[in-house]
Amino acid sequence: MSLGKIIDKKNYDLSKRIDKQKVPEHVAIIMDGNGRWATKRNLPRTYGHKRGVEVLKEILKASKKLGCRILTVYAFSTENWTRPTKEVEFLINLFSEVLKNEIEEIHEESTKIKFIGDLTPFPETLKKIISSSESLTKNNNKFLLNVCVNYGGRQEIVKVAKELVLKCSSGDIKINEVNEELFNSELLTRGIKDPELLIRTSGEKRISNFLLWQLAYSEIYISDVLWPDFNEFEFLKAIIDYQSRHRRFGGIESLEDESFEDSQYSS
Ligand code: FPP
Repeated sequence: MSLGKIIDKKNYDLSKRIDKQKVPEHVAIIMDGNGRWATKRNLPRTYGHKRGVEVLKEILKASKKLGCRILTVYAFSTENWTRPTKEVEFLINLFSEVLKNEIEEIHEESTKIKFIGDLTPFPETLKKIISSSESLTKNNNKFLLNVCVNYGGRQEIVKVAKELVLKCSSGDIKINEVNEELFNSELLTRGIKDPELLIRTSGEKRISNFLLWQLAYSEIYISDVLWPDFNEFEFLKAIIDYQSRHRRFGGIESLEDESFEDSQYSS
């Protein structure tokens, strides 16, 4: 699929800077800044989450167009339960609504959707929609969308440790057989390649308990843009930045003089 033109205010086509041979296969995103975006506009925080869904749809489209294969987004962390009940309820309803409205299109585009995290505390209605969406799309193979809900990286690592201890004590495996590969095979993301790139929006420079094991070698790109203002253009900036780092680390001819600066192409 052709990328098409992604033009900035100075009429610069960003898509021309993308090296199609070096597109990350797996991109992880911490979609941060919904609440601040809304508060800045004197709107309830929930408006930021609603707008955030539209942005997620745009970025999903953009990553497919670019040739990525996997997108993993942080939609609800284990810490998010501490938010006001109304906001938590809103988010839970939003997940159900989005799934109901979008699952047909997701399926038609041969995208597989997977929810990663402990679904136990969610209402039965949401669990049912999640389960039917996952089973409807389970054989799709063009693209994988992982949605992390009630997910925490430390909790995931503890869970794997427990599974391995159990297997050791029951004699299924020997302690000296425990290695990274075996550990990987017990992760919630088992079988999925680690993300080459992590994008976090809203300028925060933290991993916030997201994919702690899987992000060990990922490139990290922090965007100052709040998630509801993020778009295809900002996404391409992240990809170009990622590609420039790889070119340097790979020892291929440096493109330092073309290095990508936010100020130069800010939208
Ligand atoms: C972080 O912003 C965002 C969230 C906690 C929710 C993100 C969820 C969506 C965009 C909906 C996705 C839906 C599906 C079905 C995948 P924040 O509230 O932490 O913002 P703040 O840091 O400004 O307070």
